[in-house]
Amino acid sequence: MELTVNGETLEIAADPSTPLLWVIRNELNLTGTKFGCGGGYCGSCTVQVDGEARRSCITPVSDVAGATVRTIEDLADAEGVLHPIQQAFIDNQVPQCAWCMSGQMMTALSFLENAAAPTDDDIVTAMGENYCRCGCYVRIKAAVRDAAAVMGGAA
Ligand code: FES
Ligand code: FES
Repeated sequence: MELTVNGETLEIAADPSTPLLWVIRNELNLTGTKFGCGGGYCGSCTVQVDGEARRSCITPVSDVAGATVRTIEDLADAEGVLHPIQQAFIDNQVPQCAWCMSGQMMTALSFLENAAAPTDDDIVTAMGENYCRCGCYVRIKAAVRDAAAVMGGAA
């Protein structure tokens, strides 16, 4: 099956039932996307599929055949300039262990591409299903707020 990942169209030979997460990590060696719970609960494996945040641990690769997938490796531009979301997470010193962070940022990306001026309540709701065992929620909210101000609803 064919899959476009981070702008590159690829032929994927994996068994159709293979979770997208394992295709991304093991076949494409894009290890920024993390395995957490494996059951669709924590959000650490979140990637973007056709512009929507998606939990790759519970998504069979066959479900996204022909789709466009973005992972955390695609956020910085070709010159290595960080995406406003990445920069805001750094500026706010958000991560502790950082395990949840790519999922947090990919969820924020899908949210902020469609929310020009979110309120704090909007941010809490949008990010509320992405868990952080280090408890960085206050700084996550601040970073998403800062990124929203830069992005203004744009990709
Ligand atoms: S690892 Fe996918 S939701 Fe937790
Ligand atoms: S920074 Fe450690 S789980 Fe979120």
